[in-house]
Amino acid sequence: MARGIRAIVINLEEEYAIELRSKFLAVEGLKIVAELDEPALFDTAIKQFPADLVVIHLDPDPESLIRLGAQIVEKYPDLALFAVSASDNPQLILQAMRSGFREFLLRPIEDQHLAEALNRISKLATSQMETGKLICTLGAVGGCGATTFAVNLACELAQVAKRSAVVVDLDLYFGHVATLLDLTPQFSLADLCQTLDSIDPSMVEKALIKHETGLSVLARPIHFAQAGQITVANIATILNTLCTMFDYVVCDGPSRVEAVKPGILDLADTTFVILNLTVPAVRNIDRVMQELTREGYNLDRMKLILSRFATEHNTLSVEDIEQTLNRKIFASLPEELKTINTAINTGQPLLTGAPKSKIRQIIKNLALNIHDPQADSALKNNIARGGLLARMLGK
Ligand SMILES: Nc1ncnc2c1ncn2[C@@H]1O[C@H](COP(=O)(O)OP(=O)(O)OP(=O)(O)O)[C@@H](O)[C@H]1O
Ligand SMILES: [Mg+2]
Repeated sequence: MARGIRAIVINLEEEYAIELRSKFLAVEGLKIVAELDEPALFDTAIKQFPADLVVIHLDPDPESLIRLGAQIVEKYPDLALFAVSASDNPQLILQAMRSGFREFLLRPIEDQHLAEALNRISKLATSQMETGKLICTLGAVGGCGATTFAVNLACELAQVAKRSAVVVDLDLYFGHVATLLDLTPQFSLADLCQTLDSIDPSMVEKALIKHETGLSVLARPIHFAQAGQITVANIATILNTLCTMFDYVVCDGPSRVEAVKPGILDLADTTFVILNLTVPAVRNIDRVMQELTREGYNLDRMKLILSRFATEHNTLSVEDIEQTLNRKIFASLPEELKTINTAINTGQPLLTGAPKSKIRQIIKNLALNIHDPQADSALKNNIARGGLLARMLGK
């Protein structure tokens, strides 16, 4: 319903920040592209992070924040403006509505009211750009197969997407996305970070390399020194631009450290967490999930993928993991060492290097499932019947 709504939140009350962001992030398809605690930064933010909606929490200073809202509406008439306040003073509500706020949401915000308000602006929005889906992958521990999954999922999505797909290497120091596809990048993410104020699709296009499968690649920085300069805000800006250009933007990352800082995962439609059947992997994910919950992140957007799954030699079971994390495993990728190592060392994705392998079929089905909601119901039926797909997804 709120598919593709990009919001900028202005909130000066730090104690309310998490509750506010968790309310909005609970809405499917809504992304918070920037959070500001300094109203003067709005003009800079809207240039870097195109948005459809601005949410202003009025309470700390209603008079001047309503004035700010009026200025925003005048300057950017296409933006929808929501006010949030604990006060139901009719004068305040009237003043806000007269100043151009479309909706006035009372604290604590009721899910139903928020859903209705977003529904109304979804219908109104005519200038809304089509935005691609952002998919992040997060490895629970080193070497658990996150990059392999990200690259191969991106290749499969490039096959089904209308506006193709791009894979972004967010492993800024040691990423090997380009190597897995046998590509030698001339430009990288770092080149885009030098000119962030005026980033646009034509510049991004120059930094991309095209793979024979149709997938585009944005490589990690070539030099270590460049990687150290890149900030979460840089990455968020680039990802937002890519979402205007491609149907699917698949990130190999963020790293576990970046994941728990607000920024990148807030933009993601889905985050696949890749873990193996080991205690450190489960512990790490448990900690990441706890931290994200504290930050107001919507854990429904997170799906667990069990990687390198083999039934023998396991001391932990799928049930152990599901119980500990209190979440279902969404899909299981089998341990296929020879297939994967051959693919990695020859720089061939599974799509072309091992099209019939079981692991490729599972990743392909996941891509179809992401792409086509109808496939989703077929998948559910298949799972209910205990069909092949169900067995492949570990249900
Ligand atoms: N499904 C699999 N079956 C067997 N081996 C695998 C599988 N997936 C990955 N591997 C092995 O694990 C190694 C690491 O894979 P990959 O680089 O995808 O992991 P990663 O989680 O991205 O690691 P890093 O922490 O270094 O980023 C590969 O070189 C490969 O040998
Ligand atoms: Mg990796």
